[in-house]
Amino acid sequence: MNQSEECEVAVVDHGVGHPLLLVHGFPLDHSMWEHQIADLSVDFRVLAVDLPGFGISQPLETPVSICDFADALAAMLDQMRIDQPVTFCGLSMGGYIGWQFLKHFPKKVHSLIACDTRAVNDDDRTARGRRLMARQVVKDGSDSIAAGMAKKLCGQTTFDRNPDVTEQVACMIRSTDRHSIAAGQLAMADREDATSLLQTVKVPTLFIVGTEDVVTPPAEMKAMADMVDKSKFVEIPYAGHLAPLENPTAFNAAVRQFLESTI
Ligand code: MLT
Repeated sequence: MNQSEECEVAVVDHGVGHPLLLVHGFPLDHSMWEHQIADLSVDFRVLAVDLPGFGISQPLETPVSICDFADALAAMLDQMRIDQPVTFCGLSMGGYIGWQFLKHFPKKVHSLIACDTRAVNDDDRTARGRRLMARQVVKDGSDSIAAGMAKKLCGQTTFDRNPDVTEQVACMIRSTDRHSIAAGQLAMADREDATSLLQTVKVPTLFIVGTEDVVTPPAEMKAMADMVDKSKFVEIPYAGHLAPLENPTAFNAAVRQFLESTI
């Protein structure tokens, strides 16, 4: 994993060929893409980042916005001299960043994979809940939210049959800095509504969702896919909100098929 002094983003860079930028969900890190790094880097250049504040990137000490994350990714690509437009693949919060990346850096986007995410911003109740959680996690620490959040992010099948995956997710959350978790929640609470962007998307787009996702359910993802011209929509069985980690075989097959049809 590389992180240069000028760049706030740490990145795993494996493979050669078309660049596939993998942007993790909240409050996780690049390791949620371990199966994609291992498998998809056989055919593509996989760039799996730790967003500022997450994984081995420096903890966040000042407020951040979803647009700041998008800016940091664009700066990272510039710094790595990657001029070729990338496939931006973002999960949940990574998807929120994807809408802003597409809006502000359209020339850097070859295609888009929106995983277990949404375009609409928070209603007041959700935003209030995030602000409350941000205060609590700073007070009580990352451990206080890890188990409950891991259970919600994973699907019921994973929870029942694959406890190691649920524990892996809880571990990722526990090791995330509490101030970064709070900053991430506040960034999401203040993010702008990207719904109007959907009808303007011109790049090939794939929507992927776990059938058991209770955070961004399949019906909501399908409605978004219907708003994007010529987009594809794939449901991943036996998976919740973390489809790439819960059912990597089906997830990777869908991504590979999409990439092969667009590049
Ligand atoms: C995520 O997985 O990134 C979160 O569920 C996003 C959110 O809290 O809205």
